[in-house]
Order: sequence, then structure tokens, then C-alpha cells
Amino acid sequence: MVNLNWKGKKETKDVNLKAYDNKPFQVIDIYQFPNYDFKKEESWENLLIWGENKIVMNALLREFENKLNLIYIDPPFATGGDFNLKIQIGEEGYFLDNFAYTDKWEEGLESYLNFLFERLILMKKLLARQGSIYIHVDWHISHYVKLIMDEIFGIENFRNDIIWAYPAASVKTRRFFIRSYDTILFYTKSDKYVFNDDPNIYMEYSNRVKDALKKDEHGIFYYRGGSHNGKKLSRKVYVEQDGIFPRDVWNDIPYIRANTSEYQGFSTQKPERLLKRIILASTNERDIVADFFCGSGTTLAVAEKLGRNWIGCDLNKHAIHMTKKRILNLNQSNDILNWKKKYQKEPKSFKIARIEKENKINSIPILFINSKSKEGKNLQIEESPNLNVKIHQNGNKISIELIDYDIPFIDLISDKIKENVNSFSDWIDYWAVDFNYKKEGFKNLWFSYRTPKDREISLNSDIFQYNKPGNFHVVVKTIDIFGIELTKKYDIKVT
Ligand SMILES: C[S@@+](CC[C@H](N)C(=O)[O-])C[C@H]1O[C@@H](n2cnc3c(N)ncnc32)[C@H](O)[C@@H]1O
Repeated sequence: MVNLNWKGKKETKDVNLKAYDNKPFQVIDIYQFPNYDFKKEESWENLLIWGENKIVMNALLREFENKLNLIYIDPPFATGGDFNLKIQIGEEGYFLDNFAYTDKWEEGLESYLNFLFERLILMKKLLARQGSIYIHVDWHISHYVKLIMDEIFGIENFRNDIIWAYPAASVKTRRFFIRSYDTILFYTKSDKYVFNDDPNIYMEYSNRVKDALKKDEHGIFYYRGGSHNGKKLSRKVYVEQDGIFPRDVWNDIPYIRANTSEYQGFSTQKPERLLKRIILASTNERDIVADFFCGSGTTLAVAEKLGRNWIGCDLNKHAIHMTKKRILNLNQSNDILNWKKKYQKEPKSFKIARIEKENKINSIPILFINSKSKEGKNLQIEESPNLNVKIHQNGNKISIELIDYDIPFIDLISDKIKENVNSFSDWIDYWAVDFNYKKEGFKNLWFSYRTPKDREISLNSDIFQYNKPGNFHVVVKTIDIFGIELTKKYDIKVT
């Protein structure tokens, strides 16, 4: 057995498992969609977790050890760079490239390998016996990761070294060949694993093959040929499918473009079609798909559209916010099995949870600040914005109107941002109302938000009707362009 060694490497048995299993998740948001088309009785709710994934996975072990059917991860690749996500402001959609995560490993490759090693061990524990894992990396580290995967999952459970080849952006180098592919390492937990021969994962015929084929009046491909008693014939021979069973070189999936409807403004966002092939091949409906580096939520969005259950996690709260809006807005996205149509369905109910206790200090991305402080990326601010609402009540009917949002630390904010804020509502990116708040968590019963393409936000909630008299707590939640979340509670009496 050949193993990779590096300074500080732990023995597998020494990796701290279940160290945090007493820390409960704190549910911060509940989304319930009663119209979701349940095919059979099931109580599953999808789960999006904001937090450091080592802690999160340890906590998940309690409930999900040997339960996850598919894990796809697209972790930092030790590229040495910082990556951005776009934050947009107000109706005009003026945007800033805000820091999303760093992929710099100041203590060297060893620290990166330690980071990944520990997390891959946790992933193996979570993976079901018939489950599969796909690790998306590139030339920087794929060769190391393959050795680590052989060690953790067993060389006998290696399935593919998938090459996702995409046309490279114009690169000026003439010192070596242009790098234009990522590697996706596919392993399973055992040799009994799910792998579906589904025509929806097939690769399209190449142009050369398509040119050689003809289409009949129903659009089905055929060629002329065949033989009988050794004699060549010229009859129509239909090809079985609209494409070919995929090889391990995937060159039929373009890189994500900024002008497409799936683009969320996340610099390392992966195409939905990539995840479609992986999820359809390696899971069945209602299986659990997990992504512990979910970024803009591509894996979760595709899992949702394909009727799979999902668990997502990210360290960055802007990524969690982006993923949440993406799931909420899924009905407007392309149908993954028929790209020309819109998906047009409500998502399944989901929860957002976090593992840490609430941190009352607001952190403002440095990009928004007037004079950049040299230390740290963000500025810590103890003050919170002020939210003002009007409650319209008529008997048992109630609606909420947002009337003001004021930033007390406005002097710190850069002029460029202030120039692009024309009204108080331009600070707001998302807001929601729970008309009957209970301490189990905030139910987003009504909400309005801006998306990359649709920048309008409604300032008046829908009317909510109480069906019995009583005292109720109404909680209004806002999330602004800095990512600051604010909640305000109001007491309502219905007679
Ligand atoms: C390459 S991006 C994932 C992009 C994603 N596949 C998509 O399509 O949008 C990696 C993500 O991992 C997150 N991340 C990095 N280290 C993490 C950690 N220790 N725990 C949780 N998330 C982490 C980053 O915040 C970033 O959003």
C-alpha cells in the first residue's frame, strides 16, 4: 500500500470525530411549502447549514452516519487566490465584487492536505454503504487528493478520474500549454453502489457523428446500412438513443457564463448540467445528496429539481443567503431535464440552521467601507441598523409595510455605495414576516427578495388572516446588502 505523507499528518484513528456532537444546531429559518407535490408520505425537510464544515459534519454524524447517498464537494483547490461573489445594490443592481473565500494556505500545502484529509474521513463516515463521493479539484492538487482518497476509501473503490474539459478563457501564456480542465475524482464506499444508465446523463453525439447521421420525420437519428446474408444493404438503421453513454472525458458541458439565467454571481460557480449527470447517475429519487462546500448552491438546486433530498453547508453567510434565494427562486430557473422550459415548481420545505451561537457583532465587508483598514477583511460594528414598519390591522387581517431602514454607521460607508442608494429600500436585499412566531424558529410565511435578474422588492407584505382570536407575535426579518440580519418583534391582539 502506498500512502502519501506530509508534515503534521494525523493517523486516521486520531482524527477527532464526534468532538462537537453535543452542540445542537440552532434553526434560524423555516420555509414550508404546502403545495409541494409529495409523491408519498414523507417528513424529510432539506437542510442548509451555515458553519465550518468539520464541526457541522461532526454534528451530523449523530443522525446521518452511513445515511448520505451522494456527496459532491468542490472545495478550495489550494490555488493561492481569493474568490469573490457579487453583491448587488437596489433596483439598479449596481454590483460589487465582494470577498467570498480565500484559497491561500499560508502554512503551505501540508495545512491544505490536513484540512482536506480530516474532512474526507468525516465524509466517509456519513456516506451510505451504497453511496458515492465526487471530489472536484484541478491540477494544483488532484494528484495528492487521489492518493488520499485511495487511502481513505480504498483503491478498490476508485471508479473514475473524470476530466471536465471546458474551453479556456484567453490565456496569454506561451510558456506551457493552456490548462483547460478540472478533475472530478469519483469513489464509492463499497463495490455495491448505485449507478444508473439513464439517457438523461448521455453525452450528445459529436458534430462529426451528427453530420454522418440523418434524422427521420420524427427527429430520430438513423444511418443507412445493415447487411443480409453477407450483402450490404442501404436501409434505415436507427441509433438507440439521442447520445452516447458518457466516457470519463466530459467536454460537452460549457463553463458557466454571466449572461445565463443560472448565473448567481459566484466566481467559482459550477454548471447545473455537471451536477445533473452526477446526481442522476449516482442517486435515485429521494436519496440524500450533500455538499459541504456548497457556495452558490448548485448541487442543492439540481438535487431539488431532480426530486432528491439535500443537505448543504457553507462557512460564508453570503453564500448561504445566495443559496437560499436560489432555492426560493427555483421555479424561474431552467428545468434540468428540459432546459428550454422553466422549472415552475415550488421547492420542498427546508430549514436553515447554524451551529454557533448568535454573534451580535455585525461585520461589514471591507469593500463597503470608506477607508480600508489594513488588518482583516471586514469591519466589526456593534451598532445595528434601525428598522421601521407600519402594521396594518383590520380585525383578524394584518399586513406589514416597510417604511424605513436607517444605517447609523453611514459615515463609514463609501461614497460609491451611497451614490447607488436612492431610497431606504435599496439597503434591503431580503425581508420576511412570521405572523405567528413561536420559539421553534422563524417561519418565513411571507417574503420578498431581489435576485440577480429581478431587482424589485415589495415593500408591502401580503395580507395574513388569523383564524382564531388571541395574542400573537409578529416578527419581521430583514437582510441587507452587508448581510446584516435584523429581526423585530411586535405583539398583536386579535379579538
Ligand atoms: C469552490 S466554492 C464552491 C462553489 C460551488 N460548487 C458552486 O457551484 O457555487 C467553495 C466554497 O467552500 C466554502 N468553504 C471553504 N472552506 C469551508 C469550510 N471549512 N466549511 C464550509 N465551507 C467552506 C467557501 O465559502 C466557498 O463558498
